[in-house]
Amino acid sequence: MTTVFVTSATGSQGSALCNELRNLGWNVRATTRDLNSPVAQSLLSAGVHLTLGNWDDEDSLRKGLEGSNKLFLCLLPSLTDFDQAPRRAALIARVAREVGVNHVVSSTTLGSFLVEPGFVPSIRLGPFFDAHVRSKKRVEQAAIDGGFAHWTVLRPGFFMANFVEPKIQFGYIETKEGSWTNSLTAESPLGLVDHLDIARFAVAAFQDPTTYHGRKLGVISEELQVQDAMDQLADAIGDGRSIKAIFMTDEEIAREQAKGSWLFFSSEPCLRHLSGYTDLDELQRLVPGLMTFKDFLIREKEAVRVTYLSLIDVHPTPL
Ligand SMILES: NC(=O)c1ccc[n+]([C@@H]2O[C@H](COP(=O)([O-])OP(=O)(O)OC[C@H]3O[C@@H](n4cnc5c(N)ncnc54)[C@H](OP(=O)(O)O)[C@@H]3O)[C@@H](O)[C@H]2O)c1
Repeated sequence: MTTVFVTSATGSQGSALCNELRNLGWNVRATTRDLNSPVAQSLLSAGVHLTLGNWDDEDSLRKGLEGSNKLFLCLLPSLTDFDQAPRRAALIARVAREVGVNHVVSSTTLGSFLVEPGFVPSIRLGPFFDAHVRSKKRVEQAAIDGGFAHWTVLRPGFFMANFVEPKIQFGYIETKEGSWTNSLTAESPLGLVDHLDIARFAVAAFQDPTTYHGRKLGVISEELQVQDAMDQLADAIGDGRSIKAIFMTDEEIAREQAKGSWLFFSSEPCLRHLSGYTDLDELQRLVPGLMTFKDFLIREKEAVRVTYLSLIDVHPTPL
């Protein structure tokens, strides 16, 4: 029997993956820090073997991983301790190997391409973003060096879910205020990804280890220019508003970088180059029927309504 241990199972990618795998009839194991959360409860109802656990606690990880032969590795970054996620990844990879896992799929970020040897961007990364993507790269390396027979790294682009609750609270974008000030240009395409598509790529890699082994795959669902994405979002909200993409000048970006801003999309001109690291034709061939932003906004119409049309103000929570 195939048994997959899914990290971040109650998160957007992880919960989508758990559901896909359960639909295939595979065993799914995972941990959470809160068995009573609505997502944890729905995973339990779907038949996921969910136990209490924490990425810093080896005993709970071992208990969760016991009996698994595949691992989905997706860890949250710490924006104050760039060693934290790599340290956790190394621990999870070691315990996974010890219990008999032989196949890992790791989901990190498209930004990892910018610090890949041989992929030197023409623009220097800001120190904060540089530390963040190098930390992600070390998470990938823990999967690659973990001694697994097969490994695949998925590097997702910008989540479509960032435009709605609850992820809009992270503060990447201020579209609720009618604009999005960003460090792209009017011409540079934005690689958007639906978290359900990330899950579908993870399933594809788990089902076909040979084809996907050794790949570092940039994963997006659709590429759009930022103003087009804003127009689609405004249309989906449907109350006649417009949302303006504001493209920062190089001087404005340099000032943000000098302040050490963690808001990558208003301080990193290198993001203009990320579309060079994805191949939509190949992605469509590997996983046909990738989501469009327009259809994502229809599927998530309740989240769009709550985010943009609700009278209740949702207060941001710190990262
Ligand atoms: N947003 C974007 O545009 C974007 C783009 C590229 C890559 N990414 C990356 O995607 C990842 C986030 O994925 P996501 O959005 O699917 O996740 P998410 O929805 O933010 O969920 C976070 C998950 O992390 C788990 N978690 C957090 N701390 C934990 C700990 N100490 N021990 C065990 N579990 C812990 C939570 O589990 P419990 O709370 O249930 O314990 C939850 O399942 C990040 O690494 C981010 O850098 C994001």
